Amino acid sequence: MSSESPHEHRSETTLRVNGKPHTLVLDHRRVLLDVLREDLDLVGAKKGCDHGQCGACTVLVDGRRVNSCLLLAVSLDGAEVTTVEGLTDGGDGLHPLQQAFLDRDAFQCGYCTPGQICSAVGALAEAAAGHPSHVTDPAAPSGRPVPLDAAEIRERLSGNLCRCGAYPRIVEAVEDVTP
Ligand code: FES
Ligand code: FES
Repeated sequence: MSSESPHEHRSETTLRVNGKPHTLVLDHRRVLLDVLREDLDLVGAKKGCDHGQCGACTVLVDGRRVNSCLLLAVSLDGAEVTTVEGLTDGGDGLHPLQQAFLDRDAFQCGYCTPGQICSAVGALAEAAAGHPSHVTDPAAPSGRPVPLDAAEIRERLSGNLCRCGAYPRIVEAVEDVTP
């Protein structure tokens, strides 16, 4: 029988989720996705593969997109987490990407959609900050915002799988909000 106390595997952790602080005592082995869904009732982020391969669990941590099924929640003490539930237009309305997905009917079952939208928010920020992708023209001046055409959007969202094959409309929806 192990003499270890179960408390040795837990730590108090404060996550700011969608602008609200949550202080939780977390088992060190728990991932962010499970904490969001099971402890905070934020079930927008989905568990698809649980292995970092489908993107259904994508959320933003300190503004950068992450696969929440791979991140140990205890490592995020003090971090700012944004889920699909926390995206807004700055007020109470839908984020422009959420509205664009509705307008373009860019889903079928919707299982991948929260991850697609959070990933697109992150991708737009990365392009605006001048981060190149695999298909960005290598001759383009570095550090400048990267214009997002359909090829760039497909590449930058290639980590988000859609088993319904809604890709053409997802690309159109993201194009709608591309500057
Ligand atoms: S559930 Fe996280 S990448 Fe698939
Ligand atoms: S809309 Fe069904 S998995 Fe994408």
